[in-house]
Amino acid sequence: MSIILSRTIRSCRATTHADLATLKEPVISTYYCKKHSKICKPIFSIKGWWDRYTIDTLNRLKQFDGLRTETCQICLTGDSRTIDIYEKIKKKNPAFAELLFKQKIKGIFSSPPYVGLIDYHKQHAYSYELFGFERKDELEIGPLYKGQGKEARDSYVKGIADALNNCKKYLQKDYDVFLVANDKFNLYPDIARLAKMRIVNRFKRPVLNRVEKDRSNAYAEIIFHLKEN
Ligand SMILES: C[S@@+](CC[C@H](N)C(=O)[O-])C[C@H]1O[C@@H](n2cnc3c(N)ncnc32)[C@H](O)[C@@H]1O
Repeated sequence: MSIILSRTIRSCRATTHADLATLKEPVISTYYCKKHSKICKPIFSIKGWWDRYTIDTLNRLKQFDGLRTETCQICLTGDSRTIDIYEKIKKKNPAFAELLFKQKIKGIFSSPPYVGLIDYHKQHAYSYELFGFERKDELEIGPLYKGQGKEARDSYVKGIADALNNCKKYLQKDYDVFLVANDKFNLYPDIARLAKMRIVNRFKRPVLNRVEKDRSNAYAEIIFHLKEN
């Protein structure tokens, strides 16, 4: 029910098709839609999306049940710069924590925030309200409200490097870190240096059909492959 309701609410926000990420102003009447090049209207009833997500979510859960393997997946929330992964996992699954402590973590695959692009708490305000999560806006790395100026970029570089340095405690020696970023300010070489890592490869990942962007704005993200320096 929570999954269905949160998907429904996300799709029913008072915004335009072209702006699902930043939600500058509530849109409650018809508007010219940049994504579809025609007049579109905001949603006036949640019923359509509720029906659609109910069926879709049940199908996905059923499909996932068939694919599920005997592996352990744990979801932790926290500030990546300070989170104590062992302690958090010990509370959820002591046997797994022991294994982890002995073997450590082989690698990270992450899509970190980018500097000055999105205020994630604002973008997902509906889910904080729906689930009663405590907001921690001030812990966001690189939020939109801090902009992309020199100070914001420096603080972003430090934030991501701090997160990597925190994670290194839990990583095996020969770890692999993969980070997805559209690094237009070329900040990742500095981040790697501060984290005492080296960029061993850069993979290009085309981003062709983000829902909130018009398709002519396709761009490439880089997946940085980092290892211990
Ligand atoms: C590009 S999004 C990646 C979303 C993720 N791949 C997903 O599917 O949910 C970046 C995420 O980093 C989170 N973030 C920002 N600052 C953080 C911090 N200090 N610690 C942990 N996560 C943070 C944002 O809230 C956002 O969810």
